[in-house]
Amino acid sequence: MLEVEQAVVAYDGRPVLDGVSLKVAPSEVVAILGANGSGKSTLVKAALGLAPLVGGEVRLFGTPLRRFREWHRLGYVPQRIGAGSGVPATVREVVAEGRLARRGFLRLPKPADRRAVGEALAAVGLADRAREPVSVLSGGQQQRVLIARALAGAPELLVLDEPTAGVDAASQEAFAVCLHRFVDQGGTVVFVAHELGPLRPLITRAVVVHHGEIVHDGAPPETDNDHVHPHAGAA
Ligand SMILES: Nc1ncnc2c1ncn2[C@@H]1O[C@H](COP(=O)(O)OP(=O)(O)OP(=O)(O)O)[C@@H](O)[C@H]1O
Ligand SMILES: [Mg+2]
Repeated sequence: MLEVEQAVVAYDGRPVLDGVSLKVAPSEVVAILGANGSGKSTLVKAALGLAPLVGGEVRLFGTPLRRFREWHRLGYVPQRIGAGSGVPATVREVVAEGRLARRGFLRLPKPADRRAVGEALAAVGLADRAREPVSVLSGGQQQRVLIARALAGAPELLVLDEPTAGVDAASQEAFAVCLHRFVDQGGTVVFVAHELGPLRPLITRAVVVHHGEIVHDGAPPETDNDHVHPHAGAA
């Protein structure tokens, strides 16, 4: 589904990812863990062509990144919502963007598009806020709007960067349920997190990033406080 081979990313000559390799197979649920600044976001961005690779290779669904066009097959939830673009958008409009890669930019939405948007909004518990501007929602609610946007595209692979950061316990539970459903339907998930919380039972594999390198790839840590200090098993 997703293959990163010996990826090197450097900013201003300073390596942030130092020859990282990661291969995610269908139906895996992979948690990417690690301290602040370790390179987690950079790793997922590199895997999606959003961070400049100075070395290595990336393949999505078996296709080298530069030839990859099937963006509807994946959904991406970035770590932070873009600070006010100035264009007022309602919750529904942002979630509907998730359908664009599927329906083509110049076509009118079909009933299937509207249905997918409605279902995604319901899945994150924001159906009743659909007409409100995104800007009036709280940070945690805006995060859920982005998750709904990714779900609306009915992707095969979901990549989420800290989907539960700053999200209250009830919403984390709701998100876990929603992700569970996605996985049950055959979806593959890669997400960055600091704490696994209610997502713990879902994950099949944990990858720990430390100073731009993968120091653990395998069994999930026993507790939420475990991953910041990689132990033995470290590669
Ligand atoms: N666009 C950029 N320009 C310059 N430096 C960057 C850029 N993006 C990331 N970095 C640097 O790369 C390092 C890794 O950043 P990254 O965002 O990948 O960390 P992270 O593990 O996701 O951290 P966090 O847990 O805080 O989200 C940091 O030192 C950061 O300052
Ligand atoms: Mg990050």
